[in-house]
Amino acid sequence: MANSGVAIYPGSFDPITNGHVDLVNRTLRVFEKVVVAIATNPDKDRSLFSVEERLQMIEEVFADTSGRVSAVSFQGLLVDYAERQGATVVIRGLRAISDFEYEFQMAMMNHRLKPKLETFFMMTGESEFYTSSRLVKEVVSLGGNVAGLVPDNVLKKLQDKFKV
Ligand code: PNS
Repeated sequence: MANSGVAIYPGSFDPITNGHVDLVNRTLRVFEKVVVAIATNPDKDRSLFSVEERLQMIEEVFADTSGRVSAVSFQGLLVDYAERQGATVVIRGLRAISDFEYEFQMAMMNHRLKPKLETFFMMTGESEFYTSSRLVKEVVSLGGNVAGLVPDNVLKKLQDKFKV
């Protein structure tokens, strides 16, 4: 069966980890296109990487997917942006029980705002179960090694940021 449709994968991606990459690659088995969408809020942005840096890292990671993965940034409501992108499904990863409540609330709210837009959850791969952008940044900032948990280009950028 040919893949069809557009899925949107929203998040902060500060930075993208191998857990995110795994989810995008698995989504490509079902959908023709995946839009990796960085949500931005200029008023409360405490990100380590600028939006431009995050977009560039994502583009580099998916450079070999023949244009099936695009990296974008957006402001405002995800449901409105998803509609403008022609996406019918929102993808989110679930790592552990602790993710569930937050994800459930967002999915319910998005459903209320735009009932036609579905949220599909995927369990992250077992090696990414404990990986998060927040922990990766903390570990690198304290001199720890996160090789294998993030793509190589991201590892280099992290090392540059923290001068390790
Ligand atoms: O990676 P994150 O930070 O957990 O992702 C959260 C994200 C970006 C999916 C969420 O904050 C979001 O959708 N922001 C866009 C604004 C919006 O639509 N807010 C209402 C969500 S119910």
